[in-house]
Amino acid sequence: MKGPATAADLREAARRRLPRFIFDYVDGGSFDEVTLRRNRTALEAVTMRQRVLADVSDMDLTTTLFGEKLAMPLMLAPVGMGGMLSRRGETKAARAAATHGVPLILSTTSVCPIEEVAAACATPFWFQLYVAKDRAFCADMIARAKAAGCKVLFLTVDLPSPGPRYRDQRSGLSGPAGLLGQWRRWSSILAHPGWTLDVGLRGRPHTLGNVAPIMKGKVKLADFLRWSGQNFDPSVSWRDLDFIRKHWDGPLVIKGITDVEDARRAAAEGVDGLVVSNHGGRQLDGSMATAQALPIIADAVGDKLSVLMDGGVRSGLDMLRALALGAKGVLIGRSWAYALAAGGEEGVGDMLALYAAELRSAMALTGCSNIGEIGRHMLVKD
Ligand SMILES: Cc1cc2nc3c(=O)[nH]c(=O)nc-3n(C[C@H](O)[C@H](O)[C@H](O)COP(=O)(O)O)c2cc1C
Repeated sequence: MKGPATAADLREAARRRLPRFIFDYVDGGSFDEVTLRRNRTALEAVTMRQRVLADVSDMDLTTTLFGEKLAMPLMLAPVGMGGMLSRRGETKAARAAATHGVPLILSTTSVCPIEEVAAACATPFWFQLYVAKDRAFCADMIARAKAAGCKVLFLTVDLPSPGPRYRDQRSGLSGPAGLLGQWRRWSSILAHPGWTLDVGLRGRPHTLGNVAPIMKGKVKLADFLRWSGQNFDPSVSWRDLDFIRKHWDGPLVIKGITDVEDARRAAAEGVDGLVVSNHGGRQLDGSMATAQALPIIADAVGDKLSVLMDGGVRSGLDMLRALALGAKGVLIGRSWAYALAAGGEEGVGDMLALYAAELRSAMALTGCSNIGEIGRHMLVKD
C-alpha cells in the first residue's frame, strides 16, 4: 500500500484480502455490537485543548511500563488466531513490534507457538493467559512463557464464557454446522485465492501452536473451537490469582476490567496493572465504553497500579486521548490485525510508525513534549 494507510484504509484492505468469515471474526463484536460502536464514539467525543507557543521542538515519546522501556506507550493487544490473517502472522507482528520498540502481547490462542515467536525476536514479548478449566494446561503455558523470556503476564478475565458473536455464526466461522457451514467457508476461501495460496495452504493457520499439544494432534479449526468452548471456565474467581501467583512471580496485569469495584479489588490483590477493556466490544454488549470507564478507574486506583486501556484506538491521536483520560499505556487490537492482513510485517511496522508520528503531532498541538506531561488538564470539560 502506498502512502500513509490509516486504520480505515487498512480495514478496507483487510476486508478485500481475507475470506469473509475471517474478516468478520476480526471486525465483529457481540450481540448487536453496541459496545463495539460505543468504544469509538466515546473516544471520538474526547475533546482536547489546542495549545500554542509551548516550544515542542524536543519531543520524547518513550515511557517505562513494568520495568521495561517502550518507544511509545503502546502494546499490540492479544489477538487470538492472528496467524489466520497472514502467514505465520504473530511472528511477523512480534518482529514489527520489536523493531518499533513496543511489545506484542501474544495470545494463548495464537497460531504461532510461543517458542516460534521467541526465536524470531531479539527483544522479549509479553504473554496473555486465559484460565482454562484444565489448570495443568495453564501452569504449562506459564512455564513456557517464562522459558521463552516473557517478562509480563496478562491475565484475561472478561471471558468466563464467550459473548455471542452473530457475525461469526452467519459467515460460517462458528456455524451453521454441516453442508451449509462448509459451503459458506469454502466459497469464501475460493473467492480469495491470494489468501488461500499464501496463508491457507502455506501458513498452517489451523494449527494453534500453544493449545495443539494438549489437543492430542487434533488441530483443525473446528476442533479448536470445540476445545475452547468446552474449556472456558465459568468458575474462575479472584481466588484463582493464588494459583497464578504460585506459578508466576513476574509483573501480573489483569485484562478486562470496566467496573470500578473490580478495579479496587484488583488493586487490593496487589497486581501490577490492569487493562480497562471490554474485549473490543466482543463480550458484554451494552457495557460501558472504555473511554467512559477509564477516568473513573484511573481516579480510583491509578496511584496503586498501572492503568492501561484498549478499545477503539485507531490512531496516535486516539492514543493521546486515552493517555489524557488517565491511561499509562494503550493496547491496540483490530488496528494491528487489519495491518497484518493488509501488509504483513511491513504493514504492522508502517502502522506503528504512523501511530508514533500521529502521537508526536497530537502532542505538539496540545503543547506536550513528553508522555509524563499528558493528563486530564489537556481536556475540555463539558
Ligand atoms: C480478532 C480478535 C481476537 C482477540 N483475541 C483475544 C485473545 O486471544 N485474548 C485477549 O485477551 N483478548 C483478545 N481480543 C481482545 C483484544 O485483546 C483487545 O482487548 C481489543 O481488540 C481492543 O479493542 P480494539 O480491537 O478496538 O483495539 C481479541 C480481539 C479481536 C478483535
